Amino acid sequence: MNTVITGESRILDNVGTEQLYQLSCDATDLSAWLSQNGFSAKRDYIREEMAQLIPPFCQHQATLITRYLDGLISLNDVSQTFLSYLIEKNISLDVEILYQCLTDYADDVDRVVKNIIQGRSYQQALNMLGFGLCEGHYEIELANFSLDINIADEILLYGYDPSTSYAMPSRIQCLTKNDLKNLDHSESSFDLMLARWVLHHTDPTDRWEDIIVALNACKNGADIIIVEESWLPSINESNVSNYRFKELLLGFFDIIVNIALHMSWMFNKECPNFYLQYLRQEDFEQIESKINRPFQKKIYSLDYSLLSQHIIHYKLLDMS
Ligand SMILES: C[S@@+](CC[C@H](N)C(=O)[O-])C[C@H]1O[C@@H](n2cnc3c(N)ncnc32)[C@H](O)[C@@H]1O
Repeated sequence: MNTVITGESRILDNVGTEQLYQLSCDATDLSAWLSQNGFSAKRDYIREEMAQLIPPFCQHQATLITRYLDGLISLNDVSQTFLSYLIEKNISLDVEILYQCLTDYADDVDRVVKNIIQGRSYQQALNMLGFGLCEGHYEIELANFSLDINIADEILLYGYDPSTSYAMPSRIQCLTKNDLKNLDHSESSFDLMLARWVLHHTDPTDRWEDIIVALNACKNGADIIIVEESWLPSINESNVSNYRFKELLLGFFDIIVNIALHMSWMFNKECPNFYLQYLRQEDFEQIESKINRPFQKKIYSLDYSLLSQHIIHYKLLDMS
């Protein structure tokens, strides 16, 4: 693993389910815990919103939260209930302030992604795939950047996202699952693929299948960039309720932020389920075991405590 910046969020060692549950119910304690785990200074606004919204929910959902901390139900089960709760409360956040809370890590991720793109050699036309791109604003920014730095004269932009295909700008050619599976690999396969903040939102039934189909539809020499948040725990982490607690808080953050920033995806009636399960280190082995070619891999880890960001870069190599 090539780590640029590393770090771990602070955890509460040897703390049991009951204490963690009590912590989630108390606004003052929760706010203090959040500020020690990456939600301070720039992120004061989101921390205070979380400290207001989460404790009343946890107080009313004691069984749900403790069952989750004990490992009896999944993060996704809790997420669905929290999401319904917030919708019922009709929460509203100041989107501009929220963006300010998130710009530092989004900018740092952006720098790494653009550095990888900058490393490509020139080609006349470049095919780029945004996997789970929502409305594709970031992919359009990357396409414009690629033209500006002259790595290509023409960028053909493709997008695959089961929930937001209706909302994509005309510059992006929308692909369905069938399109992905039936791509003519010699003609239209991809030189560059980005999946930013997608995999922890994809249901495990098609989490690996979809990304692997897309990945194997890339050309030799393609760059595949996956961006994921969380500290990528390993399945062997010792204090289980502890890491479940961290994932719970990260999940609550994710839901609150996505309600504010990604309305079209969250409330798409055709695809109403907001799925949530953070990746573990082992999950990447699943992807890698299915890549149909040799590849190089590099991981850039950016430490923002609970909100740590990982940029996983695969370079597909020639079969021969
Ligand atoms: C948090 S948004 C990220 C959007 C965008 N990539 C970005 O960086 O702003 C997660 C996206 O993943 C998409 N998604 C969910 N399940 C998916 C799947 N099986 N395949 C591809 N995308 C999926 C959602 O529709 C949503 O647009």
